[in-house]
Amino acid sequence: MYSEKFQESLKAVEAAREQNIAYEPARMTAQQKEDLLKAYHPDYKQDEFDTLKIGPNKGDKVPFELAEALQAHSRIKADDVDLTAPDYDVDVLVIGGGGAGASAAIEAHEAGANVMIVTKLRIGDANTMMAEGGIQAADKENDSPAIHFVDAFGGGHFAAKRELLSKLVCDAPEAILWLSELGVEFDKTEDGTMVTTHGGGTSRKRMHAAKDYSGAEIMRTLRDEVFNRQIPVVDFTSAIELILDEKGNAAGAVLLNMETEELLVAKAKTVIIATGGAGRMHYQGFPTSNHYGATADGLVLGYRAGAKLLYAETLQYHPTGAAYPEQIFGALVTEKVRSLGAKLVNSKGEVFMHPLETRDVSAASIIRECNDRGNGVDTGNGLGIWLDTPMIEAIGGEGTIEARIPAMMRMFGKYGIDIRKEPILIYPTLHYQNGGLDINVDGMTTNVENLYVAGEAVGGIHGRNRLMGNSLLDIIVFGRNAGQNAAKKAKDVTVGKLSLDHIEAFEKEIKDAGIETDTVSPKLLPDYRRK
Ligand code: FUM
Repeated sequence: MYSEKFQESLKAVEAAREQNIAYEPARMTAQQKEDLLKAYHPDYKQDEFDTLKIGPNKGDKVPFELAEALQAHSRIKADDVDLTAPDYDVDVLVIGGGGAGASAAIEAHEAGANVMIVTKLRIGDANTMMAEGGIQAADKENDSPAIHFVDAFGGGHFAAKRELLSKLVCDAPEAILWLSELGVEFDKTEDGTMVTTHGGGTSRKRMHAAKDYSGAEIMRTLRDEVFNRQIPVVDFTSAIELILDEKGNAAGAVLLNMETEELLVAKAKTVIIATGGAGRMHYQGFPTSNHYGATADGLVLGYRAGAKLLYAETLQYHPTGAAYPEQIFGALVTEKVRSLGAKLVNSKGEVFMHPLETRDVSAASIIRECNDRGNGVDTGNGLGIWLDTPMIEAIGGEGTIEARIPAMMRMFGKYGIDIRKEPILIYPTLHYQNGGLDINVDGMTTNVENLYVAGEAVGGIHGRNRLMGNSLLDIIVFGRNAGQNAAKKAKDVTVGKLSLDHIEAFEKEIKDAGIETDTVSPKLLPDYRRK
């Protein structure tokens, strides 16, 4: 239910609906996309980035907030920690309890490793749990991993590491099978065929979903499997530094109990960083669709230990974050809403773009429509564009919304907006970190031995922009991959003397570079207290 001030624009949207349903907006040309991105996408705002002065990526640009975290002081001094009597001693230490961490732990356990998960919140408190629209896999007759590769490679501006993207798409059908066998209830037709839809930038319908709570269904299943296998999970405990051995190889982590603030030492033959994304860094002041713990911790841990970053300057702003009401500002409105037929409509009731352009292009186009062309709707808390959800029922028939996107219906319904009858207001929200730690195809970082990375903390799988549904896929494919390889590698590792010398070396770099900062990192949790 919208107040009086929205009514004029709403009437324009309703009046144009029938005509807008029939209208087929043209796709943008490559040149139009490039010009649009340069002018309106947040990644191209040069004055929002800082140049790193120290560390493996010295000279590279990253968002201000990330530069501050990467070039901050450690939370500890090396002398604060007794490394001679570890509290935990395992083969494989997994840092992070989301989909990538759980998948890694399951596979490491399957390979016979003594594996432990440590997570700063609880297992499952992660972006995986919040993923909505689905997971891509080319497993239908009209599709193939090669076609999936072409879609994702183009969507990522031809910047993905080919060997990583190739693994992603080739292992995708097997990932769906693995999840199904573990118990994920994917949407199926009566004869058992998987229901698949398009996402932005896909040339085939390959999005597998569990309605619009696909991530929650996947995380539920993975978490059950971790519990069934009795894999130890140390929760409410953050990794705050990696431990190396005298050869400079990863050999564990210093942990902080979030309740008692006790420091603990976990020694490990191999370590997997699966700490997820960075939405709660609120780059450029954007709201976020991410969970509370998404603060780029893994990037900080890896960077201070010497691991390189790749594409850390590229972020994904999901085109459709909720712009109204204020209580759900920035929350994810799944792309599946557009896959099912809803179009983006400006304040005058005009469809101004194809609804399924790739995400960076869609976000830039919405920003242009609002901030340059003056066609946004004033929400009282910024500007927004209509996403005309009643089109879904008009196209797919009554009941489609409740059957396919019940979580969206419930999210807006709580605030008196019936998305079957009324459109919703959206604006881009910070959603995903395209960049992260640089890995090889085994999942190990390119320059710190025995340090593996999986999930959103990895950079390079998707290039400079990710397609919908390729993140739920990458947490499974590269989570499993890291778990298998870390377990295998652990068999040949003899850990040397544990050391935190790299913290002191990094502190010296800060001083020598003349960086003056009071910031300590990793950030661990966002700070929303009024200043
Ligand atoms: O729109 C969505 O449902 C988000 C999916 C994704 O980020 O892959």
